[in-house]
Amino acid sequence: MAHTILVEGPLPAEILEMLGSDYQVHIWSEVPESEWANAVGLLTYGHPQVDGAFMDRVPGIKVISNFGVGVDHIDLDAAKKRGLPVGNTPQLLDGATADMTFGLILATARLMIVGDRYARSAEFTHFDPSYMLGTEVHSTVMGIIGLGNIGYQVAKRGRGFDMEILYHNRRPNVRAETDLAACRVPLDDLLKQSDYVVLNMPLTDATANMIGTREFRLMKESAILINTARGGVVDHDALVDALQAGQIAAAGLDVTEPEPLPRNHPLLAMKNVVIMPHLGSATRQTRLAMAQRTVDNLKAGVEGNTMLSRII
Ligand code: DGY
Repeated sequence: MAHTILVEGPLPAEILEMLGSDYQVHIWSEVPESEWANAVGLLTYGHPQVDGAFMDRVPGIKVISNFGVGVDHIDLDAAKKRGLPVGNTPQLLDGATADMTFGLILATARLMIVGDRYARSAEFTHFDPSYMLGTEVHSTVMGIIGLGNIGYQVAKRGRGFDMEILYHNRRPNVRAETDLAACRVPLDDLLKQSDYVVLNMPLTDATANMIGTREFRLMKESAILINTARGGVVDHDALVDALQAGQIAAAGLDVTEPEPLPRNHPLLAMKNVVIMPHLGSATRQTRLAMAQRTVDNLKAGVEGNTMLSRII
């Protein structure tokens, strides 16, 4: 008999194919809750909130397999209490997310979105050496908050641009220090000295709203904030105030809180803000690798085998 798994919404054809005919996929809002008892696994795709109360409604599950590395939408303590392993997709997306981080650095510093709009508009009639002057990327200082696997790849790209790398972590990242001359500094020093403040930490109770009014005040007026972590690590009201007051120069955001922002949100009207719809890992190759890992983790959890990557 096929194993029943529950998902929040439709899955891409590739994932269904990887699951194969031994797995029957139900969208949880489309089947009566009485049938949830048959489910042996949850596949979380697109960050649905999964708390302890939800886990209790699916008592037969043996695993939660998450498509993505960030698991802030899953209550890990609740899963642990219930003896439920939670799988995720670390490392597979480091390169793609670091590429996006660098893309946001270049787009904000070199006015690439504003420039693109201007080049397409009727206003562009002739080249003028004095318009749209951005700011240097190479040979500047990049401060990474949360230098883990993704942060390492960001730092590596930074070194390619002759940047000096500062980082703030609870624990030292010896590999980054050895390979990339990254220098671990207290948070306030990083904020004061960095031209680019790059956020790569996970969203946890300790990092929620970590970058707020106090932190923006410490940053250089010329500094650019880049967030490819989670929107929740930044206090967005404070970010709007800091940009409006000229406390920082610009922001490149792959993620926001909430996501998406309300259509009348002030950040959407700011020319010095570049916003992506959460595309950090969105390349065909990376998403395919993440899909395979998610399916492999799910099957391993259901079939009692070792999961390739589990967070708990
Ligand atoms: C991640 O891997 O956490 C990305 O945000 C996609 O879910």
